[in-house]
Amino acid sequence: MSVVTHTRPLAKMAAPMVSRAVGVSSVRAFSGTPRAQNKVTVVGAAGGIGQPMSLLMKLSGKIDHLSLFDIVNTPGVAADIGHCNSKGKVMGYKGAEEMAASLDGSDVVVIPAGVPRKPGMTRDDLFNTNASIVKGIAEQCAKSCPKACFLIISNPVNSTVPIFAEVLKASGVYDPAKLMGVTTLDVARAKTFVAENQGMDVDKVEVDVIGGHAGTTIMPLLSQVKGANFTEEDIKALTHRIQFGGDEVVKAKDGAGSATLSMAHAGAYFAEKVLDGLNGVKGIKECTFVESPLTSAPFFASPCTLGTEGVSEIHGYGQLSPFEQTLVDENVPALVKMAQKGIDFVKNN
Ligand SMILES: NC(=O)c1ccc[n+]([C@@H]2O[C@H](COP(=O)([O-])OP(=O)(O)OC[C@H]3O[C@@H](n4cnc5c(N)ncnc54)[C@H](O)[C@@H]3O)[C@@H](O)[C@H]2O)c1
Repeated sequence: MSVVTHTRPLAKMAAPMVSRAVGVSSVRAFSGTPRAQNKVTVVGAAGGIGQPMSLLMKLSGKIDHLSLFDIVNTPGVAADIGHCNSKGKVMGYKGAEEMAASLDGSDVVVIPAGVPRKPGMTRDDLFNTNASIVKGIAEQCAKSCPKACFLIISNPVNSTVPIFAEVLKASGVYDPAKLMGVTTLDVARAKTFVAENQGMDVDKVEVDVIGGHAGTTIMPLLSQVKGANFTEEDIKALTHRIQFGGDEVVKAKDGAGSATLSMAHAGAYFAEKVLDGLNGVKGIKECTFVESPLTSAPFFASPCTLGTEGVSEIHGYGQLSPFEQTLVDENVPALVKMAQKGIDFVKNN
């Protein structure tokens, strides 16, 4: 069922055009002409996520020009990855003075820059440091590659995506179809844990994860997993594990950071899907955190179709179980607050 279809730019659209109706299946539709788009820049490329993610992107052979930017160490990372015998040129750029060159002409910019969590920290505890890092990166992106797709990994995603949007808006270059918070790791965890629990083939499990990317705002839709048969206990335990899977890694790493390798895999996968969409591959649907009219939260993750101009369609989340509906009802106010925190940060800094 298509509820609302509207033309771009979404930035100019009045606040949510659809009610929080359950069962909404399609609320945004765009179209465009396929063209080759193949420069990807990784900002934060020398970090725990940045390095393995850049390696996976290089190995994909799908990227003509992989540009690696960081404030440290990128010449070495680029020289190293550049020796891998897969298609594509790799260039390294270091420091503020080289940032514009790294971003220039980018079709996709993936951003895992900033500090990660230590044991006992929530993603929101990273706000003070990462908010200014992300704001600075957004300011340069607005100047150097305003038409790129921006994929935000830096936490807290629930606030950094709104920060990025505000900066682009202030520069008059915001396109909501091209700004995405990366929630792919939540989907990866959901698929992995559900497959284990149900004895299913992990390659065939599909789980949508909606909401945001922090604690209980991560909401897996287990009632919609085809072929699964969960007990109520399973649902509670799995939901909790998917929501707090990141903490398992933070605890196990014991002060050495948060998820990097699984995030690198998820980030490279999602970037490749965005690139495929830009290049005209049809039927790509992935969960991502975008400006969304589905709830009263300005940004919300749900399944989205990726097309030649970024997100071409935001899909609804279908029929929720009472357990899932309660989660949504309880977590939308937190998402509103976290988005507002990001917006206020840009206004006041
Ligand atoms: N979205 C997700 O699912 C998810 C999952 C895991 C981690 N994260 C987040 O990703 C971020 C990075 O994590 P990590 O483990 O790679 O951290 P890290 O500290 O290993 O690497 C971060 C990199 O960012 C660089 N950096 C800092 N400021 C920069 C700037 N202004 N411009 C360019 N680069 C800059 C640093 O030099 C460093 O190389 C953290 O905020 C973390 O919380 C998100």
